[in-house]
Amino acid sequence: MIQEATRIQKVSEYYFSGKLKEISALRQQGRDIINLGIGSPDLSPDPIAIETLAGAAKMPSSHGYQSYIGVPELRDAIAGYMKKHYGQHFDPNTEILPLIGSKEGIMHITMAFVNPGDKVLVPNPGYPTYTSVTRLAEAEPVQYLLDESNAWNIDIAYLEKLPLDEIKLMWVNYPNMPTGAKGSRKDFEKLIALARKHHFLIVNDNPYGQLHEGTQFSIFQIEGAREVCLELNSLSKSHNMAGWRIGWLSGEFDYIRMVLRVKSNMDSGMFLPVQKAAAKMLQMNADWYEKLRGVYASRRKVAQLIMQTLGCSFQADQQGMFVWGKVPDSVKDVTVWTDEILEKAMVFITPGFIFGTAGNRYIRISLCSSEDILEEALRRIQNMETK
Ligand SMILES: Cc1ncc(COP(=O)(O)O)c(C=O)c1O
Repeated sequence: MIQEATRIQKVSEYYFSGKLKEISALRQQGRDIINLGIGSPDLSPDPIAIETLAGAAKMPSSHGYQSYIGVPELRDAIAGYMKKHYGQHFDPNTEILPLIGSKEGIMHITMAFVNPGDKVLVPNPGYPTYTSVTRLAEAEPVQYLLDESNAWNIDIAYLEKLPLDEIKLMWVNYPNMPTGAKGSRKDFEKLIALARKHHFLIVNDNPYGQLHEGTQFSIFQIEGAREVCLELNSLSKSHNMAGWRIGWLSGEFDYIRMVLRVKSNMDSGMFLPVQKAAAKMLQMNADWYEKLRGVYASRRKVAQLIMQTLGCSFQADQQGMFVWGKVPDSVKDVTVWTDEILEKAMVFITPGFIFGTAGNRYIRISLCSSEDILEEALRRIQNMETK
């Protein structure tokens, strides 16, 4: 048996990777499990994406390796999207880097900026990949707590007390997953001032834009951001293309160039038809997004009823594609409780601990199932409660 590298001893298999195997085993036993766990959209992109993909796949010239920086058509569409939805101008040739999803971007950025032993600020609760990738890079994750009493915003006063000169990079994620918080512009201004003073890089991971009404947030809307910030975006959630694996990084040319030095040694570009289809999707008009938001708004109401039935409290104005709720005090162990719900109601709900200790008393319901399925989950949970 060959010994694994020490760096992987510090990370475990992604929670969902194990849980999905368990759910699949239960389904094979004939149990009809409703999975309200993972945030993988059940909806499709617009038919134009499929037509574009199919059309491009028929071209003999589509099957070779692609450029490391994506085709101009895609980069132009991304730059157009950043301008239209966030009011930000980026040079499509130098300030945009298409990615195979933002998850891979988290790795590339870490490899590009973080040395072994460096300290990296990660949110707790937060997307687990920030921490695991930091550990894979043999760097040290330093958690900053988000708290419901502070509307899940970044506690700037707490950050100011940390030895920020030791920090190399900070992961920020607004609209926030898992809490649904939209973030505070005042706090971002203060945060950017801190990053400029103490010389650390902020990366806003922003895959949940477009799913709520009103102004869409980009960290680049905050003055001074370009000097110290990068932003990840993704078509996974906002355009129902999670399995297509496509996203991008935007920021100053010098930063993008550093990330490209890593990325161009890791992969060999994206399938051309996927790039062409994504370019089309990025040009969808307001009606398309409005319809998408309408679907999630209706689903959110049912998911909130599930939360209420379970006795959980939650903020009604959350953004994104989840409902995040606090479990009642009567629940002793949340993981045991969610396993019990899985066993009795055959509904899988994510226990909040997977997002960090600050999520221990919370659960997360995904809105990536139809209203009918969510209503069926609600019925099962109502019945379970009265048994
Ligand atoms: C906060 C956050 N960042 C990044 C990702 C990964 O997105 P992508 O599909 O673009 O890799 C997810 C997916 O769940 C997420 O919740």
